[in-house]
Amino acid sequence: MTDRYCVFGNPISHSKSPLIHTAFAAQTGEALEYTAIEAPLEDFAGAWQRFVAQGGCGANVTVPFKEEAFRLCDTLSQRARRAGAVNTLLLGKNGLTYGDTTDGVGLVRDLKHHGVVLEGARILVLGAGGAVRGVLEPLLATRPKSVFIANRTAAKAAALAADFADLGVIQGGGFDAVVGPFDLVVNGTSASLSGELPPLPDALFAPGASAYDMMYGAEPTVFLRWAEARGARVIDGLGMLVEQAAESFFLWRNKRPETGQVRAALRRELE
Ligand code: ATR
Repeated sequence: MTDRYCVFGNPISHSKSPLIHTAFAAQTGEALEYTAIEAPLEDFAGAWQRFVAQGGCGANVTVPFKEEAFRLCDTLSQRARRAGAVNTLLLGKNGLTYGDTTDGVGLVRDLKHHGVVLEGARILVLGAGGAVRGVLEPLLATRPKSVFIANRTAAKAAALAADFADLGVIQGGGFDAVVGPFDLVVNGTSASLSGELPPLPDALFAPGASAYDMMYGAEPTVFLRWAEARGARVIDGLGMLVEQAAESFFLWRNKRPETGQVRAALRRELE
């Protein structure tokens, strides 16, 4: 029987993951099937169990199930434990479910692909929700000079920073506490979805700075347009999507797909 994988979400019809993983499988010669499954909002664990019963070997997990997926795992990677969320499930030979999160590695790899130097960088992260929590450990592992988390709800940013304070120089607060310049600003808020812009000071970017939005789309986000007008180099989250998928693929199949072609194909499709 062909090994089965899927992405769980709700809604899920717009997911690019089947396209990405099918391309990875073709490229690496791995025989597998990858589909998108809309799990019921009230029974994610049941959806995973049914998938396993039907020959499922692993899955990606997206909104809104990453925390629930975390809770059902028998074992977890260190980075998933830190993130409190899981985007990759893997069924072990022993029948136990292993959970990992590849979002942060995806972000860091994409930044490196774009030539962004992280070691020694002054980084500002916007947002303090699940998306940001999920990337902090890999980001801090690159040894930036400092990370400041700014959030609409300042207390959430401060609490999040405190959770990761053992891993590097990291602080948090409200947008009014932001003091630039920064070498890299990462937007991890969901404000882009509603076309809104967090209130940021104009003098945010150091010369040669980059602005990264974890979101992507046919058009640049409001944040990226704002950043570009202030001289930053702008990068959207399409590459992060492809890189996190590649890391999941590696966990499942022990093969590293080449991501450049898939990224280019997705970009073409968006345009
Ligand atoms: P996700 O899983 O995408 O991180 P989340 O956990 O709901 O979703 O977090 C959303 C983040 O976007 C939060 O940091 C939120 O700020 P609050 O903690 O103050 O709610 C931020 N956010 C959402 N809409 C925003 C807006 N219009 N302006 C600024 N920040 C916004």
